[in-house]
Amino acid sequence: MSKVLAGAAGCAAAALALAAGQSDEIAKYREMLADGNPAELWEMRGEELWKQKAGPNNVSLEQCDLGKGPGILKGAYAELPRYFKDTKQVMDLEQRLKHCRITLQGLTAEQASAQPFGATGKASDIEPMVAYITAQSRGIKMNVAMSHPEEKRAYEIGKKLFYYRGGSHDFSCASCHSADQMRIRMQDLPNLTAKAGAQAAYTTWPAYRVSQGEVRTMQHRLNDCFRQQRFPEPVYASEAITAVTMFLARSANGGVYQGPALKR
Ligand code: HEC
Repeated sequence: MSKVLAGAAGCAAAALALAAGQSDEIAKYREMLADGNPAELWEMRGEELWKQKAGPNNVSLEQCDLGKGPGILKGAYAELPRYFKDTKQVMDLEQRLKHCRITLQGLTAEQASAQPFGATGKASDIEPMVAYITAQSRGIKMNVAMSHPEEKRAYEIGKKLFYYRGGSHDFSCASCHSADQMRIRMQDLPNLTAKAGAQAAYTTWPAYRVSQGEVRTMQHRLNDCFRQQRFPEPVYASEAITAVTMFLARSANGGVYQGPALKR
């Protein structure tokens, strides 16, 4: 625990280095914090939430089926998004978690997706649980299937969305993410159309964001990118987000999952 707290202190320093715009400083801090990522605190809280009886049904989420059978967390994230027979739908982790909170715990859809992202004074239950679940895939290779027609369909929709240009600047995701060594301000833009780029990006979310002091999920990252694209904010846990996630996750197949990571 003390290692984690020391890590958090290091983060304040990292944030300062950030303000100075020194991206090599960030690489240094990332190394320093390699075995003391503050995301560990989210993982611990997530485990508590996962195992806590809650909701009108007063049950835990321990029987939630994330695709590998009820209660099996190990490696589940590395195979998501996937088609689920019970909902006849391709779901990503955040959608599936919402589904389990509704079906197992008896929450309403609104309750199950309230506060998806933590803000000052308003902690999110979702971010810690996502951190806990994804951590159970650490070290496992991404292995997202496209055998079901619905999985193929989600991938194709995601791909379309990735290349779809629009908005006031006529940007698509590809405008910023389809060439090597592109930068915007001080930030390197990953080339998500190249295998190595897609793997490096996808396998490191969720991440503890030094600049925000929170663990952020993939949906949060995508929301931020839709904003950069001057598109409206996507609906939380929507089909469109799952489709883009499917496209990114499948493109990362074969890459070793290493989240929750540490990011700027
Ligand atoms: C105007 C430019 C721009 C557009 C358009 C854009 N992004 Fe991004 N994207 C960024 C920036 C900037 C970052 C952060 C890079 C950093 O902090 O190192 C980023 C980061 C990401 C990351 C995380 C990469 C990593 O290694 O952590 C993913 C995934 C991503 N974008 C996906 C998308 C998707 C999908 C779309 C379309 C919906 C999109 N982006 C549209 C600028 C953009």
